[in-house]
Amino acid sequence: MLKDMYYPDGKSLHKLVVGQSGSGKSYFIEETVKAFLKGMKDPDFRMVYFSPKNEGFIDMLDKKQKPVHDVGGMLRQIEKHRVVVFYPDATGLEETMDDTINALFDLKDSNPDFKVSLIIDDSQVFLSSRKRASDAFTRLALLGRSRNINAVYVSHAVVLNKSLEGQIDQMAFFTLPAKAHWKQTEERFGFNPEPYMEQLRAVDYSFLYVDIRSGMVQPMNPIGA
Ligand SMILES: Nc1ncnc2c1ncn2[C@@H]1O[C@H](COP(=O)(O)OP(=O)(O)OP(=O)(O)O)[C@@H](O)[C@H]1O
Ligand SMILES: [Mg+2]
Repeated sequence: MLKDMYYPDGKSLHKLVVGQSGSGKSYFIEETVKAFLKGMKDPDFRMVYFSPKNEGFIDMLDKKQKPVHDVGGMLRQIEKHRVVVFYPDATGLEETMDDTINALFDLKDSNPDFKVSLIIDDSQVFLSSRKRASDAFTRLALLGRSRNINAVYVSHAVVLNKSLEGQIDQMAFFTLPAKAHWKQTEERFGFNPEPYMEQLRAVDYSFLYVDIRSGMVQPMNPIGA
């Protein structure tokens, strides 16, 4: 599961981690990335954690490394460091997100071996069904797989945007109690979480691991439990 989530192998599509606020998404990301990186030996692999809330992932940094606040900072660090933690300014946030995506494509163009997982926490800030995806997000959705640029969207809502939803093949589904969300999950991803909701609510931070393509749903215990 860790490799499927985080390693861009040129075959798998993007990932969605979804659940209400406080359900354990960011904790899940942080702990699973730690475990994933332990076994990750590919020198061309990089990870960018993009956090609109400007929190998390500090443990993942090398000694003396600090979070970056702009794309220039990311480009300076990404050469030497396996993980870059991006805490963007709130002003111009959407533009910074787009510039980040485009900068990763440029890196790939100049280095064919480059592979990256881009984790976008609180991505509901950018993505909603009411708004058209930016050109950069569309590029990520359509070309990310073949360019080894893997996106992990972390969100409060299953509804991202039509063009992106079609590009998701795995989902970690945390508690999401509103019925409207279950219906949307079924409509958009062909998976109805309703039968599992009681179970999810009974154990804090538990989640479902869903393979959208095969329809496999696996109830999981909380990370670290
Ligand atoms: N598996 C776990 N075991 C123990 N504590 C956990 C676990 N998962 C989450 N927590 C704790 O629960 C709190 C909320 O978790 P987290 O920040 O991951 O939620 P979230 O889903 O990212 O929320 P938001 O959408 O608001 O960002 C945190 O204090 C976190 O440390
Ligand atoms: Mg969070």
